[in-house]
Amino acid sequence: MCGIIGYIGDRCASDILISGLSHLEYRGYDSSGVALMHGNEIDIYKAPGKLINLIEELKSKQDVCAKSHIGIGHIRWATHGLPTTTNAHPHTSNCNNLTLVHNGIIENYQELKEELIKVGSVFKSQTDTEVAAHLIAYEYEKTHDLLKAMQSAVKKIKGAFAFCAIHKSEPDKIVVAKRNAPLVIGVGNGENFIASDIPAMIEYTKKAIYLTDYQVGVVQKDSIQIFDKDDNLTANKIEYLPFEAVAISKLGYKHFMLKEIHEQSDVVRNVLGGRLLSPDKEVNLNEFKLNNDEINKISRVQIIACGTSLHAGMVGKYIIEKFTKIPVDVEPSSEYIYRDTIADKNTLVIGISQSGETADTITAIKQVKECGSHIAIITNRTDSTMARLADSLLPVDAGIEVSVAATKSYMAQLISLYLLSMKIMEVKDKNSAKNPEIMKLKQELLELPSKIEILLENTDNIQRIAKKYSNYKNFIFIARGINFPSALEGALKLKEISYINATGYCAGELKHGPIAMLDENMPVLAILNTGIVYDKVLSNCEEARARQAKLIGVTNYLAEKDERLFDDIIKIPSGSDLISPAINIVVLQLLAYYIAEYLGKDVDQPRNLAKSVTVE
Ligand code: F6R
Repeated sequence: MCGIIGYIGDRCASDILISGLSHLEYRGYDSSGVALMHGNEIDIYKAPGKLINLIEELKSKQDVCAKSHIGIGHIRWATHGLPTTTNAHPHTSNCNNLTLVHNGIIENYQELKEELIKVGSVFKSQTDTEVAAHLIAYEYEKTHDLLKAMQSAVKKIKGAFAFCAIHKSEPDKIVVAKRNAPLVIGVGNGENFIASDIPAMIEYTKKAIYLTDYQVGVVQKDSIQIFDKDDNLTANKIEYLPFEAVAISKLGYKHFMLKEIHEQSDVVRNVLGGRLLSPDKEVNLNEFKLNNDEINKISRVQIIACGTSLHAGMVGKYIIEKFTKIPVDVEPSSEYIYRDTIADKNTLVIGISQSGETADTITAIKQVKECGSHIAIITNRTDSTMARLADSLLPVDAGIEVSVAATKSYMAQLISLYLLSMKIMEVKDKNSAKNPEIMKLKQELLELPSKIEILLENTDNIQRIAKKYSNYKNFIFIARGINFPSALEGALKLKEISYINATGYCAGELKHGPIAMLDENMPVLAILNTGIVYDKVLSNCEEARARQAKLIGVTNYLAEKDERLFDDIIKIPSGSDLISPAINIVVLQLLAYYIAEYLGKDVDQPRNLAKSVTVE
């Protein structure tokens, strides 16, 4: 949520900042800005809307920009105040000497603002961030030292922040601070970088220092000093970044989302690689750190996640309960936080998050960690805050996901959950590896990449249906059992990138209320897989048909006599009920993609959303 970039070195700072911001656009994109230092001057450029507006603004200032080799930049996802130029970062103090960018939320900003107004601060924006600019400037007056000013200011601030600040009187440094919002320092040769996420600097360096909470740092061209909570200098811990620059390129696809949908077969191969070798072999999941005794003692499982990751968790509940008979609760993190935490050392807690930075999930995990439960984290970002909280860090291996709508990370989360549930079952029941149902599932998992590839080879029918239904304003998705979460996820994909009102329901719930909405203007998409719920979903389709709803069937089997019910049918490769969520979802992702694309929506950066939700 919001993106930060900073640069100090010999190169043209504005080029690095703009390139960095372009790789952070997925974090927010309602306004952007840069502050460029040259000599003892700081020039600030800001623009509302997408980054392209800032780039246009800078075009006429090339001569001035070229002189600057130190700068900070920001891309915003508005929390306090409209997405206007005034509210865009960087923000300055009254004297204009201090300039800063900020990610996070300052919870006590009203209180601080009142205090600062009393000592003469005049506020220009509606943001919480501007309070920090005035506060640090106020502290600076006492010591004339930017590091000390930052150290005392952050002690007065409540909430989450990543700050980057520069001061006209100290033109050779950027001072940074972090609490509950990610910030990384990229280590270069005679130059250093700062970013809220590594795609912003991966082109320039593969070495980084991850700041931890309460740290404050001074970044200069040739040095980096980091201080702890008590203002003591700490040793720099340099880590090597596991990503390639190519991961953030579209590789010829029109959108990142389409590229990421197409990467899913390889993602499945990556997650299974070395962990599931053949149908008759036990699962290798060394990343799961509980020993057999501890696994046998697990009495309940709690899955905590948000959005798409929550839907993966709902599929996980179904599989874990089926195989292990251990009761599983799945709950949105934002709800979990505000209830009594009932967990103990025999509770296995699974936190799922693509970004590993979702504030609600982090808070929930921290809360339950206190109960002594084992924390297994399924995240695509092994460098994230959540990964650092994990007792077991389970594999996802999806590579950087740029499109705001999660696709390949969902697939990877599902595969990780299949592996985990089979692992637990194999420990609890020594004969289970020979259980025909498990052997079949393993075989199907191994065949999954080629089934996804078959599906992706010919998308003409899906594109045709997307075009046909793109003008409907509402959609209902129905399914039962293990595919109920697929209905929710399919509906979420459609609404977030096309802004069509789409809702997922358990098919059996239709008649308890939603059926009132059905008529010829309400298409119903039904997921029908062979298995115990097939006939029931089919009956629900009949009920919808009787209300003249248009019916789209996504199915791996349909008797000829039943085809008449449907206006359109999308056939998917065969597979058991258990594996079907991993196949169905590809169709639903494609359908959402092509509808949004047909409507000309901004697929990769839908309005009002951000890839990484770092505020509660
Ligand atoms: C939907 C989507 C969001 C995220 C949610 C949680 O496409 O991307 O619903 O799934 O914001 O984010 P993570 O998984 O990063 O915790």
